[in-house]
Amino acid sequence: MSKVALITGVTGQDGAYLAEFLLKKGYIVHGLKRRSSMFNTDRIDHLYQDPHIENRNFILHYGDMTDSMNLTRIIQDVQPDEIYNLAAMSHVKVSFDTPEYTANADGIGTLRILEAVRLLGLTKKTRIYQASTSELYGLVQEVPQKETTPFYPRSPYAVAKLYGYWITVNYREAYGIHASNGILFNHESPLRGETFVTRKVTRAAARIALGMQDKVFMGNLSSRRDWGHAKDYVRAMYLILQQDQPDDYVIATGITTTIRDFIKMAFAEMGVEIAFSGEDAKEVGIIKSVDNKLFTEKAGAEYLSTIENRIGTEVVGVDERYFRPTEVELLIGDPTKSKTKLGWEPEYDLTALVKDMMQSDIKLMKKEAFLRDNGFKTLNYFE
Ligand code: NAP
Ligand code: GDD
Repeated sequence: MSKVALITGVTGQDGAYLAEFLLKKGYIVHGLKRRSSMFNTDRIDHLYQDPHIENRNFILHYGDMTDSMNLTRIIQDVQPDEIYNLAAMSHVKVSFDTPEYTANADGIGTLRILEAVRLLGLTKKTRIYQASTSELYGLVQEVPQKETTPFYPRSPYAVAKLYGYWITVNYREAYGIHASNGILFNHESPLRGETFVTRKVTRAAARIALGMQDKVFMGNLSSRRDWGHAKDYVRAMYLILQQDQPDDYVIATGITTTIRDFIKMAFAEMGVEIAFSGEDAKEVGIIKSVDNKLFTEKAGAEYLSTIENRIGTEVVGVDERYFRPTEVELLIGDPTKSKTKLGWEPEYDLTALVKDMMQSDIKLMKKEAFLRDNGFKTLNYFE
């Protein structure tokens, strides 16, 4: 008998990779997707199965984390062996603009899932993975951060996730549910949302290289993140639910890097050297040199003269609108517990992650350039 999984947030970065991973393992995968005015299934289109075919193993349901009855009905229909609760308003900066909605979807949404499992009498059958976050550490109380490090959330998003974390622990202790938290540090990929910093940078670097954009405006260049690849991190989610006992785990690489250095790495992937000067809101990044051979190999000879003409000019600036009212300056995780107990090891390091993202965005932007040059509409929205 195939195991049945329900993934909330299946249309997101992690949801897409996890669905693919579980399908490969022979699961029947159900996913919760929101109704939207345009298709929002781009990341899972390759997995889509027509509702008219028999014995589908990938099935989507309309739903929302703010709708208890909807979630309860879906869980009743699906009778999942495993629920991966990934749905969330996941953008830290946006959570300052939508704090109440974020608390509802990310905090109370988690309660809705746990309570549905309890009310439906599924406490012994259904295992639950809660997508907790390194943002819980916020103003870090210890370096590196591990499972026992005290939390100090610094945004409405992190405070909502704090509720999600503790209500998961509480339902585990109170009702014996196999419910676990994965405290995941930042993880990225070519599927990363375009307004998170890594993807914003890889998209912009590719566009600048192809002469499609002059400059990118960033926020705090000095904050540090522990970045891994989403493909490695969804494997950890699965491993957490395969353990005999529920528990909470930090998933991280143990290496931290500034935003500034990530930008340098993204451009360097195409042989473009960026030099930073100035401070705070006046800091700028300038193209210092171009390795012609590497650039030709990665971006294409036809774009070489465009990038050479940009040597000495500013391609990175700072705009205070991207600063956060309270910032998380440093995240670096200690993954010892997950390595020892889960046997989890990441396959990608930061260099391999940057390479994967740059390769994908250069390809994507070449397609955009082709569409633009042939009179088709292209994406014109940047944040
Ligand atoms: P993501 O790409 O932003 O995906 C979020 C998913 O949640 C999307 O499918 C989104 O639907 C869905 N969603 C948002 N609000 C919803 C609502 N009210 N009802 C139903 N679905 C809703 O996020 P991700 O990077 O894959 O992250 C997955 C989870 O892990 C999130 O809970 C995030 O907070 C957490 N997390 C992420 C990281 C990271 O570095 N990526 C680290 C730690 C924890 P639409 O596609 O319709 O927007
Ligand atoms: N988004 C964004 N845009 N961030 C910027 C920018 C910019 O232009 N410039 C600098 N940054 C800095 C932010 O201030 C932050 O310190 C860092 O880059 C990372 O920002 P994000 O990529 O937006 O991610 P995040 O760390 O705030 O949150 C992500 O990781 C969390 C795990 O720690 C999200 O995926 C959360 O959902 C997740 O929980």
